[in-house]
Amino acid sequence: MKIYFFSAKPYDRQFFDQQSPPDLEMVYFETHLGPHIVNVIEDAFAVCVFVNDKLTAEVIEILAAKGVKVIALRCAGFNNVDLEAARKFGIRVCRVPAYSPEAVAEHAVALLLTLNRKTHKAYNRVREQNFALNGLLGFNLHGKTIGVVGTGKIGQAFCQIMRGFGCKILAYDPYPHPELLQQGIQYQSLPQVLAAADVISLHCPLTPENHYLINHESLKIMKKGVFIINTSRGGLICTADIIAALKTQQVGGLAIDVYEQEEKLFFRDLSASIIEDDTIQRLMSFPNVLVTAHQAFFTQEALTQITQVTLQSISLFAKGETPDQAVILV
Ligand code: NAI
Repeated sequence: MKIYFFSAKPYDRQFFDQQSPPDLEMVYFETHLGPHIVNVIEDAFAVCVFVNDKLTAEVIEILAAKGVKVIALRCAGFNNVDLEAARKFGIRVCRVPAYSPEAVAEHAVALLLTLNRKTHKAYNRVREQNFALNGLLGFNLHGKTIGVVGTGKIGQAFCQIMRGFGCKILAYDPYPHPELLQQGIQYQSLPQVLAAADVISLHCPLTPENHYLINHESLKIMKKGVFIINTSRGGLICTADIIAALKTQQVGGLAIDVYEQEEKLFFRDLSASIIEDDTIQRLMSFPNVLVTAHQAFFTQEALTQITQVTLQSISLFAKGETPDQAVILV
């Protein structure tokens, strides 16, 4: 049975080759799936895709004509797949709904600590025998108020870590989590949380309702010098507005693992290219902005889980059985 992989990086090959049963034949392509490459597929039972592959109706129709039975997303989000078209052409679609929430929560904490204590700058300085401390001043996290927006699996893991640091946690989520309430974490309205927090960390999904949740208006109500951490989705922050707030120092620090225009940049080595996106260039020019390229999920544990769940779903579909409800999209 053949599976065609798209957007496949060396680490994808490593994990899938290690864990796949011998009867599966893997065909890897580094390019993303789209109309330019779809015709290369032959005799495939499934295609395995990632966040930037384009599963439009046009591509799905061709997949169906080629006899592809399953689209397996090796991620949680599925905004890049036309589910209606998949339904229409009888292709099953599955995903990995959750993989190591701790991986993302720990990366959010790593971003916060780096931004605050400037270890990335200290590392470079010391390598150049500059042992001065000027410009490296941070603040204690102990006793500070952390605003957590979204307390699902990742938000909960983040709250647990920040409790360990001795922080006060204020949370906003339309569905407060009973266990967090029991632990004394206070839920308040979004404006209350934004106004009271020294650090705001975003852990909610991107929906049409919360697009640009962080914008000119919401930034105005925050404490001057607030730190903002975003490991969720780029579209939660209006980048133009946050650049303005960084310039006035209303925002004292920003760390992001996601960016609203990341599709054209992330997961690629563009070190020898001219970047046309002036917004990300402006953002990266601030000394108090830290950007990582969608790597929060990137741990051994998460990749192991992504691989296991994906292979299991494909094998169940092949046997005519149905994977777990949370995994199936169509
Ligand atoms: P989850 O579904 O377990 O939790 C999401 C929570 O957000 C839920 O409790 C929900 O009630 C809440 N929520 C929904 N709309 C909200 C709003 N407008 N304001 C506040 N809360 C709201 O999701 P999980 O697993 O915790 O993931 C959260 C997000 O993290 C994902 O949607 C994804 O965007 C991002 N993510 C980022 C990764 C990375 O590598 N950077 C990897 C995996 C997920």
